[in-house]
Amino acid sequence: MKHLLSLEKLPLVDFETILRDAKVFKKERGAHKTQPLKGQTWAMMFSKSSTRTRVSFEVGISELGGNAMFLNANDIQLGRGEPIQDTARVIGRMAHGAVIRTYAQSDVETFAEYSKIPTINALTDDEHPCQVLTDIFTFEEMRGSIAGKVVTFIGDGACNMPVSWIFAAAKLGFELRIAAPKEFQPSAEILKRASLCADASARQAGGKIIVTEDLKSAASGADMLYTDVWVSMGKEAEAAERIRIFNGYQINAPLVNLAKPGALVMHCLPAYRGKEIDAETFEANADTIFTQAENRLHVQKSILNWAVS
Ligand code: CP
Ligand code: NVA
Repeated sequence: MKHLLSLEKLPLVDFETILRDAKVFKKERGAHKTQPLKGQTWAMMFSKSSTRTRVSFEVGISELGGNAMFLNANDIQLGRGEPIQDTARVIGRMAHGAVIRTYAQSDVETFAEYSKIPTINALTDDEHPCQVLTDIFTFEEMRGSIAGKVVTFIGDGACNMPVSWIFAAAKLGFELRIAAPKEFQPSAEILKRASLCADASARQAGGKIIVTEDLKSAASGADMLYTDVWVSMGKEAEAAERIRIFNGYQINAPLVNLAKPGALVMHCLPAYRGKEIDAETFEANADTIFTQAENRLHVQKSILNWAVS
C-alpha cells in the first residue's frame, strides 16, 4: 500500500519515478495508453479552500479512468466531530483511494492507517508534497536536473511549503536557501529530521540547507526564487502581525537582479501582489508560474498512478 503523506518519508526512487512518469502524462494528455484508475472512486476530503489542487486531482482522476468524489469536510460528519479513525474506516470500505487537505499532519497519517486505502496529502499545516513535486518537475522541464542548483525560498520559512522544500533538498541534492524573519524560520527539529532523511548521493550533488534573515545574500546567484503567501490558511487571525513582520521579504526586480541571469521566479499560488511578490515581477514571470500551475495536473496523475501501481 503506497501513501504520499510527506516528502520526508518518500524514498528517492519514488521521487524519481513520479518525476519521470509525469513527463509521459504531460506528453500524452488526451491519449493515455492506460487507465490506471478505471472503475475506481477516489474520495477528496478537503477542510481548507483549494483551486489548483482540487481541480488538478478531479481532472486527473477522471482522465485516468476514475471517479472523484469531492467531500467538503464541513458537509460530512467529520465536521461535526466524528473521529478521523471512524471516517477513515467507512471511506476505506467504499472508496479506492483518498486525497486529503486538512490542518493536522497526524490526521492524514491516521486516515492512511485506518482506511487502508492509498492516501495522498493534498496539503496540511506541515507539508505540501504534491506542490513541491510539481515545482521540481517544472524546474527540471525548463532548466534540467535540479541537483547542484540553488533554490531560494523567500517569506514564511516555517510553513508547509518550505518544509516540503527542505525534505526535497535533503533527498535530491540541491542547495536550498531560506530567507525568512527570525520568528518564521524552520525549526531546529525540522532541520535535524532533514539531515536524518538525507540521501548520501544528495550530499555529494551539493545538497545543503541555509537559513538566513538576509534575503539579498540568499537571492545572490540563485537558479530559482520561490515564494508563498505570508498568511497561510488557518493563520488569518495573525494576518496584520504577519504583514508587519514579513514586510520587505518580497520578490521584486532588485531581488531578481541579484539572482543568476535567467533564474526562474516561481510561486505556488495564490499570489498576493504587493506582499510576497510585486505585480510587475509576477506578470513578468507569469508564463513560468502558470506552467507550474498547469503541471499540477500532470504530476497529480503521476502520483495517482504511482500510488496504485
Ligand atoms: N498551490 C495550491 O495548492 O493551490 P490551491 O490552494 O488553490 O490548491
Ligand atoms: N502556505 C500556503 C500554501 C497554499 C498553497 C497555505 O498553507 O495556505
